[in-house]
Amino acid sequence: MKVLALIVLLSIAISSAHARLKCNEKSSDIPRDFLDMTRGCIKEVRRQIQAEIDASMQYLAMGAHFAKDTVNLHGFSDFFFKAAGEEREHATKLIEYLLMRGQLTDDVSNLISVNNPQKVSWANGSEALKQALKTEAKVTKSIRNVIEKCENDYNTNDYHLVDFLTGGFLQEQYTGQRDLAGKISTLDKLMATQGRFGEFLFDKQILK
Ligand SMILES: *[C@@H]1O[C@H](CO)[C@@H](O)[C@H](O)[C@H]1NC(C)=O
Ligand SMILES: [Fe+2]
Repeated sequence: MKVLALIVLLSIAISSAHARLKCNEKSSDIPRDFLDMTRGCIKEVRRQIQAEIDASMQYLAMGAHFAKDTVNLHGFSDFFFKAAGEEREHATKLIEYLLMRGQLTDDVSNLISVNNPQKVSWANGSEALKQALKTEAKVTKSIRNVIEKCENDYNTNDYHLVDFLTGGFLQEQYTGQRDLAGKISTLDKLMATQGRFGEFLFDKQILK
């Protein structure tokens, strides 16, 4: 009985101490003058973060598909798993950018939802590479929309963000798209004459 009373007393003491701690916590008083991104531009960056995560999920599905024992094309699988990682990195970079500008104040669950990928199986490698190129073209267009908004929103041209996106993100988009186009060209030529054997050879060639 005594022990029980002691436990009850202790837990009351702990919870009231905890409550006091919370009451004493004062929110920091940082001048907000340095926050100079516009609402519309922030919204666009947040939309882009979701687009990168969606692309990442799509490539994750591709990577898993080509690694199945029934498909067993590890060149393709590695290529798409790597692409999934890169897309997640893009999302991270944009989150870090908002944090650097002091413009990410809510938590990540408000920022990102995990959506199922559009497609989860492919008849051959060529079909997947073509979908990847279409995905990249969409992402490029989406980045251009962010740039446009952040240039024109209330005439507050966000030079730094626009430079960050054109020099970093767009550069990678254009080289990535060209790489995919080249791969599709080679694979389709191989498959036109060699069918599945051409796909197998190409898989080994990507792997190396
Ligand atoms: C790959 O699959 C797509 C979709 O089923 C098909 O249209 C295409 O002809 C296939 N490509 C080759 C080279 O077999
Ligand atoms: Fe990306």
